[in-house]
Amino acid sequence: MTSICNLVVLISGSGSNLQTLINGQQDGSLPINIKAVISNRSDAFGLERATNAGIPAIALAHDQFSDRGSFDQALMQQIDEYTPDLVVLAGFMRILTPELVAHYSSRMLNIHPSLLPKYQGLNTHQRALDAGDNVHGVTVHFVTEELDGGPAVIQATVPVYQQDSAEELAKRIQSQEHIIYPMAVNWYASQRLQLQGDRVLLDGELLPKHGHQINS
Ligand code: GRF
Repeated sequence: MTSICNLVVLISGSGSNLQTLINGQQDGSLPINIKAVISNRSDAFGLERATNAGIPAIALAHDQFSDRGSFDQALMQQIDEYTPDLVVLAGFMRILTPELVAHYSSRMLNIHPSLLPKYQGLNTHQRALDAGDNVHGVTVHFVTEELDGGPAVIQATVPVYQQDSAEELAKRIQSQEHIIYPMAVNWYASQRLQLQGDRVLLDGELLPKHGHQINS
């Protein structure tokens, strides 16, 4: 029998990626139990998605804390109440302290809308357009101290068309996010992923440096 992987999901906004995980839990395609959803913004729509699914939805407003360190301490305490096997960052728009990253080392995933190592940080779609890229994409990776820089698990590419706006590109990317994040979470939850230095093994085989590649 497959064991169930306990998750805590951190969000800041709409939570469409969270929704794909909720769906996968509900339809049984993902061996996960989302124990709680935590947002640093109390108006995040993702909190409603969690509540609708009967999942504890917690707002922990970062602006109520005097500094990043004290917010992260409170966040860790909150997360640890649910003893997760995996912490999933799904549009969590906060830079994490090294203490928090170390605390969840090898058990925290993030999704970043670019073909890492390209375009770490914000405004990735506009930056890809400004650079004249004809391919853009999204990466799921383990979280390390380097912002948007940890070992890659999966990367999906999308074409960039000449007339694209950043919004159109973001939509195209999001439809890939909704495929690759559940896939990566499934691999982790099914104990198929392992870290080896800055590389990831899937079923004991080294994945390509930029993760398993999906081209759309
Ligand atoms: C996604 O584009 C993700 O790549 C980025 O934040 C966005 C979150 O979207 N890290 P949503 O809240 O899951 O809809």
